[in-house]
Amino acid sequence: MTPLEQDLINALHQKKLPQFCLDLLKSNEKLDSESDRELVERVLETCQKIGAYCTGQKDKILQKLADAGANVSVGENDHSISYRLFHTFTIDLNREDLDLLIPILKEENYLFWYPVEGGGWEAYKRMYDAMEVIKTDAFTTRLIIRWNEDRERGRLSKLLLPGVLDFQWVQLPKPLWPLYYVTRPMRLILDRFGAKKPPILGPYLGTPVSLIKPILDLVGATEQDKLVDIGCGDGRIVIEAADQIGCEAIGVEINDQLISIAHDEVKRRGLADKVKIVHSNASDLLMADASIVFIFLPVGTLRTLIPQLRKQLKKGAKIITHEQAKPDFGEGNQPDASKLIVADGAITVAYIWQV
Ligand SMILES: C[S@@+](CC[C@H](N)C(=O)[O-])C[C@H]1O[C@@H](n2cnc3c(N)ncnc32)[C@H](O)[C@@H]1O
Repeated sequence: MTPLEQDLINALHQKKLPQFCLDLLKSNEKLDSESDRELVERVLETCQKIGAYCTGQKDKILQKLADAGANVSVGENDHSISYRLFHTFTIDLNREDLDLLIPILKEENYLFWYPVEGGGWEAYKRMYDAMEVIKTDAFTTRLIIRWNEDRERGRLSKLLLPGVLDFQWVQLPKPLWPLYYVTRPMRLILDRFGAKKPPILGPYLGTPVSLIKPILDLVGATEQDKLVDIGCGDGRIVIEAADQIGCEAIGVEINDQLISIAHDEVKRRGLADKVKIVHSNASDLLMADASIVFIFLPVGTLRTLIPQLRKQLKKGAKIITHEQAKPDFGEGNQPDASKLIVADGAITVAYIWQV
């Protein structure tokens, strides 16, 4: 890795990458060659592109909301959105306008992790003041919705008040909703002592599509490889690996919505002979015959997973992940290689372990 790349990664970790690039271009310092200058310009353009994309998405939703009668102002994006490192933006609105937003988000193909209708949704709106929705587009756009909460709730009322999971656990007609105060303690006891649920290794966030081929090239993926993606989301990694590299690829996932998107895409692209999507807890899967294991999960999970995989995988296999934040993989877990990856509208750092 060149000193410039290392400086860019450090600036990324400090979340100061756009300013760092602007300063470098202004001062010419450290830009020894034309290729260095090109790299810095490419990084800056990428951050600008992400910012422009987020601004466009945010304004589109705000405009639709305003047209639907919500009290929001369009085109007042904060300055920081002009340079971005990831495809995340926030929309603030009044709680009473939330129901105007839901059909707009459905139209824009955002996924909801909880039902946005019926009693569960009413409970959610009252108990919380934010929610996150995600669109599985080429970048994976993440939208955080915040609304004003007029009541400060104490711990006890949070414990007693029925929530989304209670409305999902048993579905009662509206006149019987007060009974949720009775079913809630039963559900909480069963959750605590009942059958074990698969562990959530991390929330969904898809790798931007433009990063996938460079990451696969970095790990040296070939047709002969067998690639496993632990927590494959909408299947984009395994699908691109099979399509662009031609290797066998297996994705493991627990989320039903994402599994169904993955299956549809595998079918649409005619890749069923190369791609397998397994609906299962990744912790139960034996990966001994995988030659490449792709993981995009929180670093806390990686600290446990990497040593387990290094024991389980055959010699010569590779593990690859990517992460924008400064990772602490834990003692004895340091990767064998790392690289800054700048692609069309996305940026990350990839880490490789050689078994
Ligand atoms: C950050 S996403 C990564 C998606 C995909 N690998 C990518 O890079 O585009 C992590 C995924 O892991 C899934 N997941 C979490 N816990 C899991 C488990 N125990 N077994 C299988 N998948 C799991 C989540 O549902 C989520 O879709």
